[in-house]
Amino acid sequence: MKGIILAGGAGNRLYPLTQITTKQLQPVYDKPMIYYPLAMLMLNGIKDILLITTEKDQPSFKNLLGDGGRFGVSLQYATQAAPKGISEAFIIGEKFIGKDDVALVLGDNLFYGSFEVFRNAVKSQQAKAKGISARVFAYGVSDPERYGVVEFDKATMKVLTIEEKPAKPKSTYAIPGFYLFDNTVAKRALKQQPSPRGELEITDLIKTYLHDGLLGVEIINRGMAWFDTGTPQSLLEASSFIGAIEQRQGMKVACLEEIALRMNFVTASQFQKIIDETPKSSYREYLRQVLGEFA
Ligand code: G1P
Repeated sequence: MKGIILAGGAGNRLYPLTQITTKQLQPVYDKPMIYYPLAMLMLNGIKDILLITTEKDQPSFKNLLGDGGRFGVSLQYATQAAPKGISEAFIIGEKFIGKDDVALVLGDNLFYGSFEVFRNAVKSQQAKAKGISARVFAYGVSDPERYGVVEFDKATMKVLTIEEKPAKPKSTYAIPGFYLFDNTVAKRALKQQPSPRGELEITDLIKTYLHDGLLGVEIINRGMAWFDTGTPQSLLEASSFIGAIEQRQGMKVACLEEIALRMNFVTASQFQKIIDETPKSSYREYLRQVLGEFA
């Protein structure tokens, strides 16, 4: 399965912070925001990744992440010329997806907890289980009107409706920014029309699978933390959350080098080289500690 991270967009909700750098490079506690969605793909075993950015910000992403080799993954880059919606990621990424299935993660989404639900869904997607070709997740929230909302029958897990930021949500389940699609996704995105706000909406794309009877939904249990970090308040909350966990446990969340080692994307000797290349810092000390405990 291929992976796409969409990190375009104007990030207007974070202005004037976005005058310094783009939203997805803002700090979430001790790392740039983009580390977290990248960790999400890596923890799901996805190593072949396309990162879509604005043209202006691409050099900064390349400077930070390079070709992904440091993290044992292959990173390619593409640009989104204007914020024309999430579905456009599949039009931009059509060639990259090729004949594969694809996971999309939004560059401002952060997940923390047990990844079992995601890993199982990735496995089912690859196995083409139950005749389902697209999978979304359902996460209970207090403010569903801010998100894409999924209504489903809890007994049968059949999806009933999908709506984008509804004024009167039919359920309290938001759809987080992590989605699994088959390789018809680009063709479907190409047929989409922009919404009243001028965007190719991800929810409209998901609805085409619902219409064809090919959509599955998985509930994310209450132990999982999910943040969409696109506003000053949610950015602060995500930073505080990550800071609290890291301080308490003495372990880092979304340390990409550590994930690469634990997922066997890099060997211990490659990891040692990575440490040697890391500037003297508490981050480097942490990497040393990880290797010490791993060996
Ligand atoms: C987007 C999607 C929405 C989804 C959300 C997740 O909204 O349109 O369906 O629930 O991401 O973060 P945005 O945050 O871009 O307004």
